[in-house]
Amino acid sequence: MISFVQDDRIVRIDFNDPLSISPTTTVLNYLRGLPDHKGTKEGCAEGDCGACTVVLATLEGERLSYSAYDSCLIFVPMLHGKQLITVENVGRSDQLHPVQQAMVETDGSQCGYCTPGFIMSLFALYKQEKTVDREEINDALTGNLCRCTGYRPIVEAAARACVLENPDQFSQQESQVIDLLQTIRRDHGGQDIQRDDQHYMRPASLADALALKKQYPDALVVNGATDIGLLVTKQKKKLARILDISNIDSLKILENHPDRLEVGAGVNLEELRLKVRDSFPALYDMLAVFGSRQIRNMATLGGNLANASPIGDTPPVLMSYFAEIVVESTGGERRIPALDFITGYRTSQLREDELITRVILPRQQNGSVIRSYKISKRKDLDISTVSGSFRLHLDENNNVDEIYLIYGGMAAMTKRASKAEAFLTGKPWSRDSVEAAMDLVTEEFTPISDARSGAEGRKVMARNLLLKFWSDTAN
Ligand SMILES: Cc1cc2nc3c(=O)[nH]c(=O)nc-3n(C[C@H](O)[C@H](O)[C@H](O)COP(=O)(O)OP(=O)(O)OC[C@H]3O[C@@H](n4cnc5c(N)ncnc54)[C@H](O)[C@@H]3O)c2cc1C
Ligand code: FES
Ligand code: FES
Repeated sequence: MISFVQDDRIVRIDFNDPLSISPTTTVLNYLRGLPDHKGTKEGCAEGDCGACTVVLATLEGERLSYSAYDSCLIFVPMLHGKQLITVENVGRSDQLHPVQQAMVETDGSQCGYCTPGFIMSLFALYKQEKTVDREEINDALTGNLCRCTGYRPIVEAAARACVLENPDQFSQQESQVIDLLQTIRRDHGGQDIQRDDQHYMRPASLADALALKKQYPDALVVNGATDIGLLVTKQKKKLARILDISNIDSLKILENHPDRLEVGAGVNLEELRLKVRDSFPALYDMLAVFGSRQIRNMATLGGNLANASPIGDTPPVLMSYFAEIVVESTGGERRIPALDFITGYRTSQLREDELITRVILPRQQNGSVIRSYKISKRKDLDISTVSGSFRLHLDENNNVDEIYLIYGGMAAMTKRASKAEAFLTGKPWSRDSVEAAMDLVTEEFTPISDARSGAEGRKVMARNLLLKFWSDTAN
């Protein structure tokens, strides 16, 4: 049984009832099956268009925190303990919400198909309760596509509506919603949903999750579901056994220590982005161009690492910061340097009875400079064609003491340009040395050609990223 708040009341769904929806039903499909919630639209069913955007409010201390999500990628059990807000809830019958009013005033809608999704992204932005600048507005709207209005009036609507201290009906009703969510929280526990053809486990503690992983090593782990969700929505797979670890508080820690930042594997990438802006700028730069805000609100660091994709954006950066990946089983924990974690195409050192539980980022980088770069077909909401994360330490004579050149998209796995690294070590950090090393970068990779780029294009990108790194750090 799961419980969440929708339309000002607690909704309960008993998935063990064979007549109920399946636990891998997406929130979008759940909403589309209700008689009065057709405002939430399906555009792409893969997290790209934002037409399905909803807002989830979660209890944070004594307050509610509101974030936008792509409902096409959330499984319904993930709603447990949250308030689901759709476009039908935003206005009142006698009064538009300020974000809706601003969209009307700026002519921000034409055919209207994308509009509910935009309204929900704007609503989440509004509920941050601060005056937003253009950069913040663009970021909040990156995950919403409109093919007829054009974005200028929508951006203008955001700037008009999203200003500091502007209470709405949600502010007035917040204490009632908090009471309802606390009622749900009192019977907070794990879920074990068994049906004829599906077993969906959603433990509430890490100990339970590890025990289940040991008992069912074949269980498909799901956290943010931004990768796994596509198996259901695009590949139409019926997932037989799922271990959903998104309900485990201890996986969501973000702990500051004098010498390190510890990041739980279940921390979402938007929260991480906001946390590392000053302390780990190369990670911040990569997260700033990772998916969209809706995707980052769901996607986790553990999921990106476990995926071990050659174009995953966080592995190269974590490698260049000398991060450690902590993996756990019922037998205890292992700490694996990020540099050694990925072993091949979508393979890693993770064993079948283990989960990634946290990542340790050391603060002390001993005077090294670390930068990250991502090249994709378009700047926003696109996965990498080629990425690079580079780490450089120079001696007092401006010679290269230590250098790591870590590339994504150039091989079957995230890979270092070892020959270029060896060549540059001991050489002056000069344009001449770097140009010679660029030729080695070209030689040592044999990238694939695909829809994103030909192999030759990738080589040029990899060369030029090294030149850019030099140009950014030469002084
Ligand atoms: C529209 C869209 C845009 C995207 N943009 C980007 C992008 O810019 N850059 C990029 O790198 N990726 C991108 N992705 C891919 C995806 O968002 C990331 O890989 C994300 O970090 C996955 O995290 P998740 O929590 O959603 O993983 P899930 O989908 O829940 O799981 C992903 C994999 O990790 C495993 N897993 C998850 N957590 C753990 C754990 N703690 N321990 C062990 N195994 C685990 C799962 O079994 C699964 O194999 C995008 C995806 C979409 C749909
Ligand atoms: S339907 Fe396109 S993002 Fe969900
Ligand atoms: S108003 Fe038509 S797609 Fe945006």
